[in-house]
Amino acid sequence: MKLQSFETERFFARYEFSATHLLSVSDCETVTIETLLELANMNLSNLGGLSLGYTESQGNPALRAAIAKNYPSVTPEDVLVLGSPIEGLFISLQALLDKQDEVIILTPAYDALFNLPEDLAGKAIPWELKATENSWQLDLDRLESLITSQTKVIVVNFPHNPTGFLPTPAEFHKLIELAQKNDLWLLCDEMYKGLEHSETKPLTSATDLYDKAIILSGLSKTHGLPGLRAGWLILKDKEMFQAILNWKLYTSICPPAPTEFLALAALKAADKLRQKNLEIITKNLELAQVFFKRWDELFIYRKPRAGSTALVELRRGRATEYCHSLALEASIVLLPSPFMRFPDRFVRFGLGRESFQAALTAYDKHLSSAG
Ligand SMILES: Cc1ncc(COP(=O)(O)O)c(C=O)c1O
Repeated sequence: MKLQSFETERFFARYEFSATHLLSVSDCETVTIETLLELANMNLSNLGGLSLGYTESQGNPALRAAIAKNYPSVTPEDVLVLGSPIEGLFISLQALLDKQDEVIILTPAYDALFNLPEDLAGKAIPWELKATENSWQLDLDRLESLITSQTKVIVVNFPHNPTGFLPTPAEFHKLIELAQKNDLWLLCDEMYKGLEHSETKPLTSATDLYDKAIILSGLSKTHGLPGLRAGWLILKDKEMFQAILNWKLYTSICPPAPTEFLALAALKAADKLRQKNLEIITKNLELAQVFFKRWDELFIYRKPRAGSTALVELRRGRATEYCHSLALEASIVLLPSPFMRFPDRFVRFGLGRESFQAALTAYDKHLSSAG
């Protein structure tokens, strides 16, 4: 099987470790191992004493139990701990899709959510979020019209990267009803769960609403620990579980022991990590509001409702060209929308970092000097 180029990761590989201002990253502010263990009331010497043998393929039972606790209907048996969150997309889509299948994918989408189904299935159909004057909207009638007898999977991601969209509970129930009525798998990427902004209520996880839901979650985004590579899948169908686990035996075999140890610590400290990052996002949303009001002639800003990113429309120019020249000329990194299967006039802002204010100030200066 040939896989297409992973443009978002290539773009970040080019600029992330050399540019001065990262204004577009989707992960929240991170912490050191020392801080993490302190927050979890755990001792660094326990990490030193950890054995580095193989671990259980499905994941450490204590870690699976700690994960399952966050979902009312989930048992530790329904949890598959991964070698990394992205691995969960790769192995679940491998197990789910054949060339005769059709998949419907909510777009814009993080590259892997669209590219993998497109490479694995017969047909990958985009289901676009609609941009209204100041918000993002789901078009459920459109979704219904895209379902055919060949459709096997619907792929969604809530809270949504890059728009920060979150459906209302009524919309989410309607989506699940459609999946159920047509007996479809629902692959629901919940990597940004827990980052609901002040006035937004969190959604019930799809796993607690639908037996054919497959959930991807992990600690990279909401908890700001992407270097830990901690992620998990949740699914209740035992046959599909085994099919996905079999793929995992070819990709990572079992989760890294240090990751499982630290993931358990992170789950103990989960609320503190999440609250810290929500506070950063709240502050950055206020800064963004002021910035986009000031530069209204350049951007259309649709305020996100959840997550750590916003997708902002350029009133003029092409986003891809613009982002490359901004990175090269001003050392400011924004991510263009075509990588995420969306027209070439949007850029992603990342709201979860302490450095947002300095980056936005540098961008403001750059725009002022250009104007
Ligand atoms: C929606 C979504 N799913 C999955 C991932 C993969 O997470 P990780 O990079 O921690 O493997 C990302 C990363 O950006 C993401 O945005």
